[in-house]
Amino acid sequence: MEKILVLDFGGQYNQLIARRVRDNNVFAEILPYTTPLDEIRAGNYKGVIFTGGPNSVYDMQSPHYSAEILDLGVPILGICYGCQLIAWMAGGTVSTAPVSEYGKIEFTAKDSPIFKGIREKSTVWMSHTDYISSVPQGFEIIGTTDDCPCAAMQNRERDIYAVQFHPEVTHSEFGMQMLHNFLYVVCGCKGEWVMDNFIEATVEKLRAQIGDKKVILGLSGGVDSSVAAGLLSRAVGNQLTCVFVDQGLMRKDEGDFVEQTFTSLFDMNFVRVNYGEQFLSKLRGVTDPEEKRKIIGTEFFNVFWNEIRNQKDKGFFAQGTIYPDCIESGKGDADVIKTHHNRVNIPSDVQFAGVIEPLADLFKDEVRRVGEKLGIPRELVWRQPFPGPGLGVRVMGELTAEKIKIVQEADWVLRDEMSKNGYESELAQFFCVLPDVKTVGVMGDHRTYDHLIAIRAVTTDDFMTADWARIPYDILAKVSNRITNEVAGVNRVVYDITSKPPGTVEWA
Ligand code: XMP
Repeated sequence: MEKILVLDFGGQYNQLIARRVRDNNVFAEILPYTTPLDEIRAGNYKGVIFTGGPNSVYDMQSPHYSAEILDLGVPILGICYGCQLIAWMAGGTVSTAPVSEYGKIEFTAKDSPIFKGIREKSTVWMSHTDYISSVPQGFEIIGTTDDCPCAAMQNRERDIYAVQFHPEVTHSEFGMQMLHNFLYVVCGCKGEWVMDNFIEATVEKLRAQIGDKKVILGLSGGVDSSVAAGLLSRAVGNQLTCVFVDQGLMRKDEGDFVEQTFTSLFDMNFVRVNYGEQFLSKLRGVTDPEEKRKIIGTEFFNVFWNEIRNQKDKGFFAQGTIYPDCIESGKGDADVIKTHHNRVNIPSDVQFAGVIEPLADLFKDEVRRVGEKLGIPRELVWRQPFPGPGLGVRVMGELTAEKIKIVQEADWVLRDEMSKNGYESELAQFFCVLPDVKTVGVMGDHRTYDHLIAIRAVTTDDFMTADWARIPYDILAKVSNRITNEVAGVNRVVYDITSKPPGTVEWA
């Protein structure tokens, strides 16, 4: 199988580079910059991409690599820090740029195979404070910006290319075309990698890793854990036990739906643990969103730990972590935005063979494609994501049974209207939030002082950024009308018109 190596120097877009390569039907493997050259040589890669990174190449503490890699005889593309590293390794000079470039910058391209089919002037995404101040021997400049005299360079003889900007982010107008050119024009890839290969390779890997041991999967009924369950069920059948903890924070009737779907669909063992009351008692008096997330996460996992403690054969613990969960929880150099549910510390007395996260390198839409290929029904695969802490992050302030019921009922009305109006699959996610605010209203001739419900609806490709959805007013009007009429304890409905950033999709 043809594959590309993404050599990781610590930048924040490394997974995105690998994903863009996969989007071009070429398999990409990410390895740290500490990987020995012999291992890279043995990998038979069609090409190597050096990623960006937060450091300066002239700082000796920064990640470096032996210059021998440039003579591997395999095409190389350096991005941002990777570009500067190539210059530095090949004998050029990198120094602090007189003008740092951040954001969208006009780029002028010269003749190069990596710029095939690309306009001479285009917009690229820059993020750098250092620049190449003198180009190494044998290299020629193939791109400039007003403030960066060497924004791209090449050595065609050695098939080495380097760009200061980030072709992997969508803000670089022709970034996808550039990566496509590198893969197909320079590396000569044929594009043989498709989702079926991922499934086959993952199933094989899981079988080899698991052997005849048992696996426990934490199932939330959301897309990610469902697809992880599908993969594991295909790999090891009923060696897999899915533990579904109903923490009483699911949408209306959802616990029953999850149970029915999984017991009829897969070859596996299914255990449902109803834990609603215990959860609420642990959360009594807690109002801080991060504290709530942590308690819900810890309690949720305690149930699994107990299941594992009770097991005779100590097996693996699996979860449906996907790539955005990892970065938003502060993997690598990224800041912690929220403590995502599936990132908790494992108690030292809980012993098992290891953690399995078969989807940890994939983005949401890739996970869905895997799910479809596995034959999981569309209703499940295209179900909206539902956060691990459930309605716990959609009810602000202290969680009570009454507030949970209100948000469940309001949410049910919203879903019903969206579905009746054909909007269900139009949007990435929509739901109701209970902000824990009471406002004055009038119903009949009476003054009311009741809860406010906020509707949140977004469009997005990858959930890293999102836009608020332009739902037609008529639908919003109907939803508002029904919620205030049908859901006891609500007298006002508002619509959230905040994008991500600055907001996040969930309210907490
Ligand atoms: P945010 O609120 O971080 O949400 O913009 C991005 C996407 O992630 C979902 N989400 C979670 N998913 N565990 C999950 O599995 C969590 O703790 C969690 N918090 C948010 C959210 O619903 C949205 O789809």
